[in-house]
Amino acid sequence: MKEQLIIFDTTLRDGEQSPGASMTQEEKIRIAKILEKMQVNVIEAGFPAASQGDFEAVAAVAEQINDSTVCGLARAVEHDIDRAAAAVKPATSSRIHTFIATSPIHMREKLRMQPDEVLEQAVWAVKYARRFTDDVEFSPEDAGRSDLDFLCRVVEATIAAGAGTINIPDTVGYNVPSQFGHVIQQLIIRVPNSDQAIFSVHCHNDLGLAVANSLEAVMNGARQVECTVNGLGERAGNASLEEIVMAVRTRQDVFPCDTRLDTKHIVPASRLVSNITGFPVQPNKAVVGANAFAHESGIHQDGVIKKRETYEIMRAEDVGWVANRMVLGKHSGRNAFKTRLKELGVDFKTEEELNSAFSRFKSLADKKHEIFDEDLQALVTEEGLDQEAERFKLITLHVCSQTGETPKATVTLSVDGTESTSAADGSGPVDATFKAMENIVKSGGQLQLYSVSNITSGTDAQGEVTVRLEKGGRIVNGHGADTDIVIASAKSYIMALNKLMTQTVRQHPQHSQPI
Ligand code: KIV
Ligand code: ZN
Repeated sequence: MKEQLIIFDTTLRDGEQSPGASMTQEEKIRIAKILEKMQVNVIEAGFPAASQGDFEAVAAVAEQINDSTVCGLARAVEHDIDRAAAAVKPATSSRIHTFIATSPIHMREKLRMQPDEVLEQAVWAVKYARRFTDDVEFSPEDAGRSDLDFLCRVVEATIAAGAGTINIPDTVGYNVPSQFGHVIQQLIIRVPNSDQAIFSVHCHNDLGLAVANSLEAVMNGARQVECTVNGLGERAGNASLEEIVMAVRTRQDVFPCDTRLDTKHIVPASRLVSNITGFPVQPNKAVVGANAFAHESGIHQDGVIKKRETYEIMRAEDVGWVANRMVLGKHSGRNAFKTRLKELGVDFKTEEELNSAFSRFKSLADKKHEIFDEDLQALVTEEGLDQEAERFKLITLHVCSQTGETPKATVTLSVDGTESTSAADGSGPVDATFKAMENIVKSGGQLQLYSVSNITSGTDAQGEVTVRLEKGGRIVNGHGADTDIVIASAKSYIMALNKLMTQTVRQHPQHSQPI
């Protein structure tokens, strides 16, 4: 029997720290459920001390997840640990993850603490967290740039204090595989009580080495990897779950362990996260990119037809790729709709939710003959958004685009329940639409990104639009889908405006250490 490699998913916490990737409670629950279905061992649901909204989202995930451990992040301070403990309390299995930085630069410049004070604080935090749960994880933040002797002292002391998991983060993605693997090996050899904890790694991707570093750590004894769907995360992101899991599963000849994951949920999870965050998956992304199993060259195609293994090392269906097939159409009933969405991991909480999603489906089916899984996913992503009390809603949009004429748009929005109309010219219909909306909302947000992609193929496909707005350093993403790309653009702009204009004050876990 191989040892188990524990998969700790932090899409809902570190992933959410990507600029613009913030998620609503309902969206977090939807992602948590697909992760649970995938059999992820631990779901880090958020940083409960960040805001009341974050606290409630973690608590809601804790209430609804049974088969995965639900974890809350806390700095090594009483208030954070209290909040994390209360948020994860409803979970069937809960974990508190507490951390403090141990690298010279972080201790000196950020914490303004001496190494011995940091060590003492780390031990105190682990002991304090153990009052609430037996499952405590400790991370020496920026371990990748910490002094190895000091790291050994901190790790030994925190294991003695009761941490069952020691997570070694390469916080700034600075390490290279051989060196990072060596750190893990040395910790396991040199720390006298290392056999009393599971060693974990948490690698950032600043040099594109997060997955390689994590896998090298596994080769050297790590038995938990922290990762995110699509590699989402702070700056260049974290190690991507799909790459870690499939590397280990595919190369069982070299890895001494395997995960318990049901890999056929990988692609649906990737799509869901991409839909919710508005972060598209690059076509050549390993495992989940649209081209990951596409063979363009004739030689490759010929080889695959003769024997698939000539050019494929994994089976597309094992990671959840299904051939684009018409799943539903105009005449499909409510039951077929509900059943297919259940298969895709979407459960409606109330009849109203189901009815409203079904009526959207019917209007989409009027415009588009064949409805694919991707269409359904986009449709329910919007459904979730509509349930929130959004400040701005699109009521009507009229655009006029004609050769030789300046495009014009007239938009009516509901702003806090009151309707307001404005018209504007633009260099194209989308530009005119955004200007008309901006006349009403006056957000002052700067457009940083506008991208359109097709959800499925054909000219009747839905276009999926992502808009990124920036104001005062705050970045938000909006996304929307429709068979009419101007309407999809308007929906995505509205979503971004709703996020931008909702003042949520959130603490970032790693920006300050209030001790
Ligand atoms: O990157 C990091 O160091 C973290 C810690 C909080 C584990 O995200
Ligand atoms: Zn991180």
